[in-house]
Amino acid sequence: MLEYLLTIFLGFISVLLFCVFCRRRRKDGEPPLIKGWIPFLGKALEFRKNSLQFLTQLQQEHGDIFTVLIAGRYITFIMNPLLYSSVIKHGKQLDFHTFSDSAASRTFGFPAVRSGHFPGMSDSLQRSYTLLQGPALDPLAFSVMGNLQQVLRHRFLSSEESGPDGDWKEVELYEFCKCVMFQTTFNTLYGHSSHLRLDQLREDFEKFDAIFPLLMARVPIGLLGKTKEIREKLTRFFYPHKMAEWIAPCEFIQNRMALFQQYDTLQDKDKAAHHFAMLWASVGNTIPAAFWCLYHLITCPEALAAVRAEIVNVVGEKSVQLIFKEDITITRQQLEQMVYLESSVNESLRLSSVSMNIRVVQEDFCLRLDAQNSISLRKDDIIALYPQSTHLDPEIYEQPQRFQFDRFVEDGKEKTDFYKCGQKVRYYRMPFGSGATQCPGRFFAMNELKQFVCVTLLMCEMQLLDNEQEAMLDNSRAGLGIMPPANQITFGFRTRKLQDSTAEREE
Ligand code: HEM
Ligand SMILES: *[C@@H]1O[C@H](CO)[C@@H](O)[C@H](O)[C@H]1NC(C)=O
Repeated sequence: MLEYLLTIFLGFISVLLFCVFCRRRRKDGEPPLIKGWIPFLGKALEFRKNSLQFLTQLQQEHGDIFTVLIAGRYITFIMNPLLYSSVIKHGKQLDFHTFSDSAASRTFGFPAVRSGHFPGMSDSLQRSYTLLQGPALDPLAFSVMGNLQQVLRHRFLSSEESGPDGDWKEVELYEFCKCVMFQTTFNTLYGHSSHLRLDQLREDFEKFDAIFPLLMARVPIGLLGKTKEIREKLTRFFYPHKMAEWIAPCEFIQNRMALFQQYDTLQDKDKAAHHFAMLWASVGNTIPAAFWCLYHLITCPEALAAVRAEIVNVVGEKSVQLIFKEDITITRQQLEQMVYLESSVNESLRLSSVSMNIRVVQEDFCLRLDAQNSISLRKDDIIALYPQSTHLDPEIYEQPQRFQFDRFVEDGKEKTDFYKCGQKVRYYRMPFGSGATQCPGRFFAMNELKQFVCVTLLMCEMQLLDNEQEAMLDNSRAGLGIMPPANQITFGFRTRKLQDSTAEREE
């Protein structure tokens, strides 16, 4: 239905614009130009259907660099990771913020930060990101541990009551990850309050998230059914007078609350929309990532055993015994020691990440890519890196479709040398974007994913049901981060609490 609306909408615009503009021709020095036969829309539908396959085919026909017309924008793709660095380094002529500012403002419904009405705000927001990094990570990691254990203990122990002791129980894996990661992340960032209805918030959030790709694709919200109402409802959750009552929000969120307070030009609903946008940024990718981390471990017994052994080894038997009775801590330093776990997380991200890195060309200029290649670019065109093609490049990664938990470990340390055409590749894995615009939450996200796996594996045994089918990636969100699973996966779990206490009795 939505796909249908999108097509009608884009079709309408294309006819309109076809009458207004004459079509572009390739100039000397510019990359090959692929326009398709549909004006404006160009290759948008093919791109949306399966972008990796579409781009790989164009790469075979036209080489590593080409320009495609997609829904009214000329996008130049750089498909070879050995050429990425010139794009990543050209921050001045290739800007990220103009694009993300307008996309975010349209999607979440706040006035564009760089519109001139909010002097200094953009810089202050960028500065606030340091509160997700470095020393600020210690209290955040501590808080995540506490919240995770509370949520998981509640979940495992209350479901235990419903069945006989020590029995295996069944849960849908994505539902499990959504529930645990949403609540943990919300409480860690925004704090607690006894009358918050987080289940309702999550339900609305999921409705919004399902439409998110269409909003990003510039489909007007008015065409998207109840989406506007849902967004308003989600935004109302974060009005300043409500947030003022929440207990112990993290420093990062407090800093943003104080910052928004300084701008009279920002209405309460705009402040709330900013907070809602941050909620989306903090769980939108982490939830599917958590799914793939657990899924790959459960489906690979060798990986599960190695990772669990590493976790037990680092946190110590004693903590393992205690985890159902009291909170244990796993410090940031301890998390850093878990290389197999980290490698498994990175391997899961490699296989599920489809974020496209986008830069907007600020002026006509010639971009030198390496000794042989340079390309002419026009103002307002888009340059895109598509790391998924690197993540699945058989030259860089042997058997790229396979989950190999220790792919990023060598001699007990992180492995960082990967090669293509005999050259060392610097940008071989980039789920968090690149250069100056990399995701500011990446350290927090990595920690949280590792903590999630740690606590889950310490609290219970897990296995897939017999004859459970393989999880597939939902390709429809290509370009927008971590892909969710396309099908439901049920897994069995059994808490370790009972087994441990039986063991004690037997001693
Ligand atoms: C596995 C989890 C995550 C993934 C894969 C991810 C990925 C990304 C990517 C690809 C970008 C765009 C960067 C670019 O294009 O250069 C981004 C931006 C951003 N992310 Fe994340 N992210 C994750 C988790 C988080 C978390 C937990 C937070 C906050 C606590 C967060 C906050 C942000 C923010 C605020 C931006 C926008 C930065 C800006 O506008 O300058 N992310 N993320
Ligand atoms: C995993 O990825 C993160 C973020 O990209 C990186 O900092 C870390 O060194 C990687 N670790 C391993 C073992 O690959």
